[in-house]
Order: sequence, then C-alpha cells, then structure tokens
Amino acid sequence: MPYPPSMQESLALVEATRPQRLHETFPMLSPSEKQDLLRRFHPDYIQSAMREIRVGPNKGDRTPLELAALLEGPSRLRGVHLDLERVDYDTDVLVIGGGGAGCSAAILAEEHGARVLIATKLRLGDANTMMAQGGIQAADKPNDSPMLHYLDVMGGGGYVNDPDLVEALVRDAPGVILWLENLGVMFDKEPDGTMRTIHGGGTCRRRMHSARDYTGAEIMRTLRDEVRSRPAIEVLEFSPAMELLLDESGQVAGAVLQNLETEEYLVVRAKTVIIATGGSGRLHYQGFATTNHYGATGDGLVMAYRVGARLSFIDTMQYHPTGAAYPEQIVGLLVTEKVRGLGAQVLNVQGKQFVFPRETRDAESAAIIREVKERGLGVRTPSGMEGVWLDSPMIDIIHGPGTVQRELPAMVRQFARFNVDITKEPMLVYPTLHYQNGGVAIRPDGSTSVPNLYVAGEASGGVHGRNRLMGNSLLDVVVYGRRAGRAAAERAKEVRLGRLTLAHVEEWERARRSAGLEDGMPSPLILPRYARRAREV
Ligand code: FUM
Repeated sequence: MPYPPSMQESLALVEATRPQRLHETFPMLSPSEKQDLLRRFHPDYIQSAMREIRVGPNKGDRTPLELAALLEGPSRLRGVHLDLERVDYDTDVLVIGGGGAGCSAAILAEEHGARVLIATKLRLGDANTMMAQGGIQAADKPNDSPMLHYLDVMGGGGYVNDPDLVEALVRDAPGVILWLENLGVMFDKEPDGTMRTIHGGGTCRRRMHSARDYTGAEIMRTLRDEVRSRPAIEVLEFSPAMELLLDESGQVAGAVLQNLETEEYLVVRAKTVIIATGGSGRLHYQGFATTNHYGATGDGLVMAYRVGARLSFIDTMQYHPTGAAYPEQIVGLLVTEKVRGLGAQVLNVQGKQFVFPRETRDAESAAIIREVKERGLGVRTPSGMEGVWLDSPMIDIIHGPGTVQRELPAMVRQFARFNVDITKEPMLVYPTLHYQNGGVAIRPDGSTSVPNLYVAGEASGGVHGRNRLMGNSLLDVVVYGRRAGRAAAERAKEVRLGRLTLAHVEEWERARRSAGLEDGMPSPLILPRYARRAREV
C-alpha cells in the first residue's frame, strides 16, 4: 500500500466519486471570476514578495525579491584583471546556452554561413528543453489555424503579449513541426500517419504534438545530434559566460567565459551573440520548489541587463499547477499537463472537483492554492506538505485500459519508483515554479535594443505576456532559436568590431555605488546557491 494510512480515507472518496465524475464537467471560470481568483491567490500578486529594482534599465520596475537581488549584484569579474588583447576564440556567432533555443540558433546560423561557437554552462542539452514533457503546439490540422492559435496565446497571456512576437510564433509553428520531423523527431502519430494531437489548458483546438511524455527529451536529442554533426559548430561545455564584451563603439563583441574545471577565463570575440540561457527557476521564488533544470539561474538576464538591454514582464512567473507533492523525494517535479489533457480531474480531499481541469495555468494554480490555503480542503502528507489529487486512473476509464501506460510512460516510471501505480491511484500535486514569463525584450527576429545582441527562448520576454500556455515553450525555443540564428548570422556578415572592452562593467559598478549598493550577491549566479562549489568539496 504506497500511500500512508492517513491519506487512505481521502483516497477512498476519490474512488467512490469516479462513476459520478465520469459524466460531470466542472464549469470554466468567467473572465471576471478568473481575474478575481488571480488577484487573491496567484503568487505574482503577493506584494511583499516583490520590490523595485534600484539600478539599471529597469530601475523602478517591480520584480520578485530574488531576481531584484540578482540583477543588482556586483559583477563576478569585479577585481579580475583580463588581457582582452589575448583572444582565445574568434567566431562569427557566439551562442550562449546549449538547450533547445541555443541548438536551434546554432543550426540556423551555420546554415546561413556563419562560424558558430556554442558555450554552455553544463553539457550540451542540459536544459529545461530536455525536461519538457507534454508537447509542442502548432496549428496544422484542418479545423485549426494560426489565427486561432494566436487568439489562444493572447488570451492565455492576459492580452498583454507583444502581438508581433505572437504572430511570428504561431505562423512559424507548422513549419517548425515539419523541420523537427525532417531532422528526426519521432512525433506520436495516428495509425493513418497523421499527427496525434490533444488539448492543453487554454487551447480551443487539439494542437499539442507530443512524443509520449518525453517530448522535450526527444526534441533535444535530435537537435543535439544535429549540432554535433555539423563541423562548423564548435561546442565548449562546462564554460559559462560571466559577462558580455563590448567594443569601443558600444556594440556587443563577444563574452568572457570561465572554464568550470580549471577556473581559467576565456575571451571570445564574436560579431554577434545570441543569449539562450533559459529561465531562473533555481532562484526558487517565494520558496517554491521547481520543475527547472539545475542550471536555470537567470544568467542571461544579468549579462544582457548590464549592457543596457531592457527586460519585460519580469514581475510575472509561472507556477505549474501540478508539481508532485508526494512522495517527498520528488516534490516539485513536473507532472505533465498532458495528464489533464487526457481527462484526469483535479480533486480536493473529499474527492470533489473544484476547478475545470484545463483552465490556463495561472488560474488552475490559483484555484489549487485557494482550495488548500483558504478552504482547507487539501490533502496532508505525513511530512506536512499539502496538495490535491490528480485522478490519473480516469484516463484509462475514458480512453480504455493501457492508455496511461502508453501515453505517459515517464509519469508511470517517475511514480513507480516509489510504489505509486498511477494507472490505479491518483497523484498528489501542488503548484511548482515552472517558467519565467518575461525576460529580455526582443523583436521578431530575436534582436534587442543593444547592437549585435540577440536573445531566444525563455531568456526573452514578450511572447507569452503574463502567462504561457502549455506547449508554447518548446515552440518558442525552436521558432525564436531559428529566427535569432538566421538574423545573427546575416548581421555578422556586415559587422566590423573595434577593440574589446569591459568598460561597461566598471560603469555598472559606479552605477551601483551611486544607487547606494555596495555589497550583494555576485552575479550571474551560474549554479544554485545550494550547489557545492569545487573549493568546498
Ligand atoms: O505540463 C507540461 O508538460 C509542460 C509543458 C510546458 O510547460 O510547455
């Protein structure tokens, strides 16, 4: 019996209500109900968890406390003397980050004639892309269109998304699926060979393409193989960027890397730079557990900020409604939205539904938090964690035996390790920190307000407004990776660089001092604060 006796009474209620729930649809929230719910229960609205940034392009804007401290931090290169005349790598396009956006960017830049260097903090492919489970959206079915996809993205984002960025996202989507398939991604298909697609939260059509619940891993595997097979793309692993380099005219001209093993600094001169460093879930905003990769420490935001790039939507983070809440060993890990897409309902301690299972993530999470914190109808684990049930056995009841095993092998395996059989028993879940909705403001070609600087994927801001829909992150990394790669390679053909400089870092330190900031946590963070540093081992 995997669940402890204290949770059995509630489990019995879940089982008892199944026949009735099979025919019961919980109503969706009206727009005003949704707004009210978000204001009262979504973590973005907790004012004490935010503060104004005191220095830099977003001075005066509010952001979570953890991110404000990171952005305001002193440079890691403060006090380090570097000979910038001694260049270790000279390239056309430097891609910082080796996840889905970085690899897509590198492939396209290479196809447009550039010599490309990827510098990645850990190994190539160690990224949130690898961990994405449920799917990638594209309107490529006869009953769907990029226009409907566009409306869903805008609606999900609270209608504040950058419309031009959304248009590019949805227009490129069908082509991106074809591109990935041609590279070797094995999407799920119907017996007649057509793509298999399901719903996600906030979608009006079934447009979620998947590879079981390993979609990100399958896409990352393919992109990584492709990068490795192209000789004009060089890869430096375990070599995070510490700061961007400018030239005397103020354009971006490369970066300073650090070899994590030898601690040696490396100077890279590059005609254009693409930041593809992903998100910042490892800052654990408001103490939330996270689905994010170990390297998700917001490094790209810091480096771009110091050369004057503006950030957008940095007061909003995404809390995925269904992070594992039991057992303790996997608290915060992702339980894919595909589980709800296939029909699993979200239930309180009494085995009753309290929210439509496919609300957009912001609303779904807020409803779960309300059920637990205000109504006191959560399920308590022996260690005191609280959550709600996600009734996965409903999937086999709706679609037939074997569906959970076939469609959700990663989930089955994740819970089976702890003797929870999700084909027969529900999972206990609670919201977990999943995504950074905002980031560096970009244009549709991935360019920024800083010459020669491009940003792609989760490090960018504007595409998703205040809330991203499921499956639009895998899409975003490929669409904007490709766009930035192409644009950066074309731009590199005309760039002439002057002498390299880190004068902006000195300028940053002066600005910090005039804002009254002396000490602080050096940034970029590179590894989570709880990481064991080499010197401490
Ligand atoms: O729930 C999920 O499978 C997550 C997907 C996403 O964030 O796009």
